Amino acid sequence: MGSNVTFRSKIGLVAATVGSAVGLGNIWRFPAETQANGGAAFLLIYILCVAVLGLPLMLGEFAIGRAAGSDPISDYKRLSPGSRWWMIGITGILAAYVILCFYTVVAGWTLEYLVDSVSGSLYAATVAGGAEPYKVIMEQNITSDLKPVIFSIILILANGAILLGGVQKGIERISNLMMPLLFLLLLVFCVASLTMPGAGAGMKFFLTPDFSKVTASTVINAMGQAFFSLSLGMGVLMTYSAYFPKDTRLGKTSVIVAGCDMLVAIMMGVIIFPAIMTFGLEGETFEGASLVFVTMPEIFAHMPMPQLWSTLFFLLLLVAALTSTISISEVAVRFLQDRFKMTRRKAVILVMLPLFLLSPICSLANGSLSDIQLFGLTIFGMMDFFATNILLPLGALLMALYYIFAAPKGLLRNELTNNGLIKAPYAALVEMLIKWVAPVLILIIFVCTFIKF
Ligand code: PHE
Repeated sequence: MGSNVTFRSKIGLVAATVGSAVGLGNIWRFPAETQANGGAAFLLIYILCVAVLGLPLMLGEFAIGRAAGSDPISDYKRLSPGSRWWMIGITGILAAYVILCFYTVVAGWTLEYLVDSVSGSLYAATVAGGAEPYKVIMEQNITSDLKPVIFSIILILANGAILLGGVQKGIERISNLMMPLLFLLLLVFCVASLTMPGAGAGMKFFLTPDFSKVTASTVINAMGQAFFSLSLGMGVLMTYSAYFPKDTRLGKTSVIVAGCDMLVAIMMGVIIFPAIMTFGLEGETFEGASLVFVTMPEIFAHMPMPQLWSTLFFLLLLVAALTSTISISEVAVRFLQDRFKMTRRKAVILVMLPLFLLSPICSLANGSLSDIQLFGLTIFGMMDFFATNILLPLGALLMALYYIFAAPKGLLRNELTNNGLIKAPYAALVEMLIKWVAPVLILIIFVCTFIKF
């Protein structure tokens, strides 16, 4: 049997799900992709991907999760007993674990930058002396063997502590607190950015589509971004929707969650582009982590009160990363609880324990272990690639196949209409998109990813 726990309030349910979706994907990947792929041209394609692929798949996960009310493996077992469809859930739980390993490392960097912002060491006069001080600092921070490990372990402990609080008193409570804070911080940064001298030029860059930069890989990146940013394909949404009360309107919820996720991405564009235009940083490319850990400190160093702005920014990033980390861990915690009838405490400890070893290995992949490489990728890079580009789309593809071949008749419609209590005229369209459009698009992503690789 699964759990009978539900989120306590509608606001809490939305806050938790938005908390999962809004993360490093919005704050760092989205602006970087937008910069590289023709500004608003990328934004438009991304909006299309969210509408055609993201929303239907989100609803597909919500329907399975709420109908079955358990973890990604048990959900399929309950809905199709005696079949092997439950194996789909394995990709989800595996993806959750792999993402957790490197996500905690990046979240650990964020914590380190927050601490260095508060203490002011990031902006110490000596530091600002070199030619590219923040690039050097980032490299030192990331490649060091000890500090990032310590910070990621602190993060894992915080994550575990919140999870121990349970669904209502841990996840929901922390999301209710952190999401308003996140939006407030974003708003402060938007106002600051829009009053900078380069605001006009920045917004022009962001909102003028440059279709000459659009290639096949732009579209693939936009689809990948939709997957990652909406937390699709790994059972996070399935796990959270198992905690949705039966009267939650899934259609409305999905639009709110995807809308908030999009809003945060767009707000990040509004924040970043005016600032880089103002300080003449438009020539920089935001590869990898450099947007948040190099360009942003550079911007703050040019502003009055760099320490304050930097503290607020890394707090924002930490909040976003932590609420996502919690949701990823919850997939594995729920699984252990339901499958092996464990207490929550035992499940949380069991999920966290291996992380104390795996997350440091991931961290060292940027330091002492950086020579261990496969296809030119470090252990860190491999985990990111394997989970983001393979496991997430695979999980979603298999779910689409489940809807085509095995899902109980009317599953989606029943869930979208709360068993006939409300209207959902879009149910047929959503079902069509899940069954026929999503698999084709995902297969295209796969083929292109392998060709690119
Ligand atoms: N959606 C999160 C982000 O944008 C990351 C994430 C991926 C969270 C998959 C859960 C599952 O950063």
